[in-house]
Amino acid sequence: MGFLLDIPLHFSYIFPTESKYLSFKGGNPADSRDGTDRRFVAESRDGIEMEMDDFQSPGRDRSSPLGFDILNLFRQRLGENSKLHAEYINPAWVKSMQLIGYDRIYTRAEGSHLWDKDGRRYLDCISSFCVSNIGHNHPVVRRALADVLGESLPNLIQLDIPLLSGLLAEALVKRIPWLDMVFFASSGSEAIEAALKFARCFTKRPRILYADHSYHGLTYGALSVTGDSMWREGFEPLLPETKAVPFNDADALERDLAAGNVAAVVLEPIQVGAGIIIPSDGYLPQVQELCRKHKAILIFDEIHTGFGRTGTFLAAEHWKVEPDIVCLSKGLSAAMVPVSAVVTRKEIIRGVFSRLDRSEVHATTFGGNNLAMVSGLAALAVLDSENLVARCCEMGQHFLQSLQPLALKYELVKAVRGKGLLIGVEFGEPKSFMLRQAWTLMHKINPGLFAQAFTIPLLEKHAVLTQVAGANQDVLKIAPSLVVTREDVDWFLRAFDAVLASTHKFPGPFWEVAKSLAKNALL
Ligand SMILES: Cc1ncc(COP(=O)(O)O)c(C=O)c1O
Repeated sequence: MGFLLDIPLHFSYIFPTESKYLSFKGGNPADSRDGTDRRFVAESRDGIEMEMDDFQSPGRDRSSPLGFDILNLFRQRLGENSKLHAEYINPAWVKSMQLIGYDRIYTRAEGSHLWDKDGRRYLDCISSFCVSNIGHNHPVVRRALADVLGESLPNLIQLDIPLLSGLLAEALVKRIPWLDMVFFASSGSEAIEAALKFARCFTKRPRILYADHSYHGLTYGALSVTGDSMWREGFEPLLPETKAVPFNDADALERDLAAGNVAAVVLEPIQVGAGIIIPSDGYLPQVQELCRKHKAILIFDEIHTGFGRTGTFLAAEHWKVEPDIVCLSKGLSAAMVPVSAVVTRKEIIRGVFSRLDRSEVHATTFGGNNLAMVSGLAALAVLDSENLVARCCEMGQHFLQSLQPLALKYELVKAVRGKGLLIGVEFGEPKSFMLRQAWTLMHKINPGLFAQAFTIPLLEKHAVLTQVAGANQDVLKIAPSLVVTREDVDWFLRAFDAVLASTHKFPGPFWEVAKSLAKNALL
């Protein structure tokens, strides 16, 4: 973080004296010059004290007028988060966050840690749903974005042939050498939409097969291949000619492929939302063989599993499978600028964009914008320079090995599984009478309640942020950023052990929390 320390500092620029609300509490900016990582404590109009970066923020442009100061606005309004969301965005979401105590006001994020307004440090084991794979606010990405923002580069001209998207496409194809070309969009769902359209257009066939319990996004095409009724309810009818097949069952897939007219089979190589489901070793290679035999396009949704998350750049590499289309998003953004990529074969691109009058037949306005491309290029550079894929493999093994003894120690743990730093702990029905009664009752109320209740003391007491793998799941998902350290893993293990111990005491405080969650969930 020391790369801007030699820049002269102007205190009044960051904390304009006319601010009614913000009072500066401590830290002398001049001290930054001694090379220490200086931070300042400021106070919002709600009286929240907040630690923030000082002038090291690479995006600060000291030459612009002070008419709009976003950081000042952020500081002033900090604490109004829930109120604003309840009023203007989604009150149900605010309530559910409040219910589980997840309505914390974070003021800082770095690497695999978050800090709240009281300066408490948290271990982030969700990584923004596998978006911050290289860690939050990586200085290399911030620097690259600031560099580009500091210039008046052409951006989103639309009727031109921009350089940066060409560079990121080249970099992605180098990592996925059996594929040749890339289509850029901004979200995971958009990448899935494009992949489905490309497959139908290229094969001139209508049918699309997807897996039960899959998750591919919530726009109409993506939702039509998402195999969980919870997401679909209220939004049907969906896209025709889409059909679910059981995951990890090549025979069932073959039957549907043999019925003919299949344009594509779309799969997550590891089903994340279904509970971190890792297929048996032979399944994905068999799927590839079957797709080739029946001339169907194989689409891998690596939006969650890609970008180093499982200890290889793509999860497909674990099984040496070479899908025809790979969708990437999340980690590619470096948790900075939304971006997604559909990496595919040149025949497919040529089949879709087949004539000059069809050269823009599928497009999106913001695909390939400069900041998204810079985030992607910088994220890839960090992945290499910090050797994060190998590191993910090593830390993931360490994590899994350390969790295994807890599975033996506690009857509520049914299984521990994962690849790289995508780990699931599955809870299961205990044998002892009292615990089993409590477990059964909770599951009658809501099948996902136990795992959700488990995340509450992890956050509240141990400052560890986790999530349930998916709706109605008994699976806790653990997915810290790839820069997580052994100390972080120890932190998690201590917390996990303590919460598990408390779940095995019935009656006890854990079950009280669970009971009140159950009561509220019924409201
Ligand atoms: C496997 C998978 N596919 C697709 C998506 C959709 O991505 P987005 O939310 O960016 O549209 C997600 C998002 O969580 C995902 O996990």
